[in-house]
Amino acid sequence: MSFLNLDKNKVKETVDELNILLADYHLYYQKLRNFHWNIVGQNFFTLHAKFEEMYNDTLIKIDEVAERILTLRYRPLSNYSDYLMASHLKESASSLSDIEMVQELLSDHEKLIQQLRLTLEKATHAEDEGTADFITGYIAELEKTSWMLAAFVMDAEDNLPKS
Ligand SMILES: [Fe+2]
Repeated sequence: MSFLNLDKNKVKETVDELNILLADYHLYYQKLRNFHWNIVGQNFFTLHAKFEEMYNDTLIKIDEVAERILTLRYRPLSNYSDYLMASHLKESASSLSDIEMVQELLSDHEKLIQQLRLTLEKATHAEDEGTADFITGYIAELEKTSWMLAAFVMDAEDNLPKS
């Protein structure tokens, strides 16, 4: 631990949040696979490909979060039973419409962004720039993906500036 030069108690608080984030990402990943497989209708080709792009990106993040926990000298949660207990996300049915799938993902993004911000807060408090840096990048990326998904379900008039 000494080479990290970080306060062990504060690091533990960050790791607890990183483990919840890891659980959230696993539920999110499998939901994207569920939607990739089960999407039907006129938007099949667009969303089938988009969900694949999103779950591949999530797979990379899952590994980065777990290995950051190991770098901080703790163990990542590694079993699905733990993920189901720790995550704020819920599994979804497979029979949703395309719009319902996108709305479900947007609602998960809200929870993910909350968890990312909480993790960032703990990492900043622990002066753990290594964690804070990549979590900050994840927030910006997820905000951008959320904008794109929101655009998919919006009508043109929803996009007008508010007076
Ligand atoms: Fe596929």
